[in-house]
Amino acid sequence: MESSPLKSPVRWLTALLATSCLLPTAHAQYYKISTPDEIRNSARGLAYDLMLQYKGNQSGEIPGILPGPPTEHKGDYYWWEGGAMMGTYIDYWFLTGDTSYNHVVTEGMLHQTGDDFDYMPLNHTASLGNDDQGFWGMSAMLAAENVFPDPPDDKPQWLALAQAVFQTQAAPDRHDDTCGGGLRWQVPPLNAGYNYKNTIANGCFFNLGARLARYTENQTYADWAVKTWDWLWEVNYIDHKEYAVYDGGHVEHNCTDVNKARFSYNAALLLHGCAFMYNYTDGSALWKDRVDKLLAGIARDFFSKGAAFELPCEDRKGACSADMLSFKGYVHRWLSVVTKIAPHTADTILPMLRKSAEAAVSQCTGGETGRRCGFYWSSGQFVDPSVDKTTGAGEAMSVLAAVSSLLIDEAHPPATNRSRGTSRGDVNAGSRSRGAVTPLEPITTGDRAGAAIITMLILGGGLATWSYMSLGD
Ligand SMILES: *[C@@H]1O[C@H](CO)[C@@H](O)[C@H](O)[C@H]1NC(C)=O
Ligand SMILES: *[C@@H]1O[C@H](CO)[C@@H](O)[C@H](O)[C@H]1NC(C)=O
Ligand SMILES: *[C@@H]1O[C@H](CO)[C@@H](O)[C@H](O)[C@H]1NC(C)=O
Ligand SMILES: *[C@@H]1O[C@H](CO)[C@@H](O)[C@H](O)[C@H]1NC(C)=O
Ligand SMILES: *[C@@H]1O[C@H](CO)[C@@H](O)[C@H](O)[C@H]1NC(C)=O
Ligand SMILES: *[C@@H]1O[C@H](CO)[C@@H](O)[C@H](O)[C@H]1NC(C)=O
Repeated sequence: MESSPLKSPVRWLTALLATSCLLPTAHAQYYKISTPDEIRNSARGLAYDLMLQYKGNQSGEIPGILPGPPTEHKGDYYWWEGGAMMGTYIDYWFLTGDTSYNHVVTEGMLHQTGDDFDYMPLNHTASLGNDDQGFWGMSAMLAAENVFPDPPDDKPQWLALAQAVFQTQAAPDRHDDTCGGGLRWQVPPLNAGYNYKNTIANGCFFNLGARLARYTENQTYADWAVKTWDWLWEVNYIDHKEYAVYDGGHVEHNCTDVNKARFSYNAALLLHGCAFMYNYTDGSALWKDRVDKLLAGIARDFFSKGAAFELPCEDRKGACSADMLSFKGYVHRWLSVVTKIAPHTADTILPMLRKSAEAAVSQCTGGETGRRCGFYWSSGQFVDPSVDKTTGAGEAMSVLAAVSSLLIDEAHPPATNRSRGTSRGDVNAGSRSRGAVTPLEPITTGDRAGAAIITMLILGGGLATWSYMSLGD
């Protein structure tokens, strides 16, 4: 992309000033988002730049994934983030109408299904987290809800893929009685993190259940969503007063050692799922209360600086992991959908997302193009992604998500089988899945995760520990 021609003397002067010796390192803000046309143009540029980081459609490369995983020194990104990126482009197409990347998305989404069409491909089952599989499943669900073009008849269909992920996670081999229920973070018992039951793994399952219930009107999915929410509440991963959403706990402590790190995506994922339950239950007071309280918590914890802020790590530059650098984008996408299915939230959410998106694009002034995006939105200052030890795919994906989500007002609400949906389901999908079926033994020998997955960070004088997604993948 070329930079836009300078049409007026004022813009020319502005650009000159911004690049002159007065402000030697700053570029003028490249992306404009005042009108729907400007938003679409900006989103197109952001989508183009993000795609430059994806090698999956080049010959000899693997469709669906971003360069990685870091454990094999192949790049900065774990398997799940490719699935999250596919979802970002499914929303990009839905919101802007630009079909340019649909073939890349379809190819990637279908390449990674695995032989049993359940997002447990052999390359990744040995290191599979329920959350990793869940992110791919949620992108398939999104494709059904957005009425993304259906794959050819002889290929697995979006709804069936989401059902398969759900089914494998609802199966008895994924559930045990430690901590009174809930999914573990990791699927294979030998994995570091198998003894951790966390919000993201259960949040993805809850979220998929709520969405499948609304899409198919099958109450079984809603029952699982209720059960999973109740469990998250019971183990205090959701603060009973403040509705802060915490990260997780270990089975050897009956999940009472709650790691209180507040990651934005955990809270937004639960809010999004609650909004689907609210809509599925025709606006029940119970789910409305949860929607409203989670939303208040999100506004307080992540938007009080005017723009999305990754609370546990953003204060220290370089402290957020590559995974964490992508969370803001999901928050924007999920919150924007909440406004469609719980419309009473729109007056709170839309201005908050707009302000945050404005801050996001204000710092996209880096690199040789003068439009590269970093992670630190609220300062409005570009910080090179290399500070975060990444090539910046998460940073680019988040700004793309924030900008394209500004078009949510004009968009259809998520489809259902009854309304606009075309994706064919399969209630038996996932029931014949192989892999990762191993007898469960409660772990009693202490924290087997050890140093490999626990990152210790000194945050503002305190000491916080957490494990994060996909390490070891
Ligand atoms: C990969 O996809 C991008 C975006 O559509 C396109 O520009 C590029 O030419 C594709 N590369 C190959 C090898 O197909
Ligand atoms: C698994 O890895 C092999 C070797 O890198 C690659 O050719 C194949 O495409 C991968 N499969 C998936 C589903 O990623
Ligand atoms: C373990 O935690 C669950 C969920 O909070 C609770 O229902 C159960 O009573 C606890 N078990 C013990 C032995 O404390
Ligand atoms: C979706 O609707 C079609 C009719 O339009 C029906 O044949 C099908 O069984 C429905 N699927 C589900 C999952 O409810
Ligand atoms: C509802 O979903 C469950 C779980 O996948 C499945 O076993 C059941 O057959 C479905 N019921 C209908 C009526 O489709
Ligand atoms: C449920 O979502 C639809 C959009 O699909 C919306 O029109 C409706 O108002 C929502 N229901 C409630 C109770 O908010």
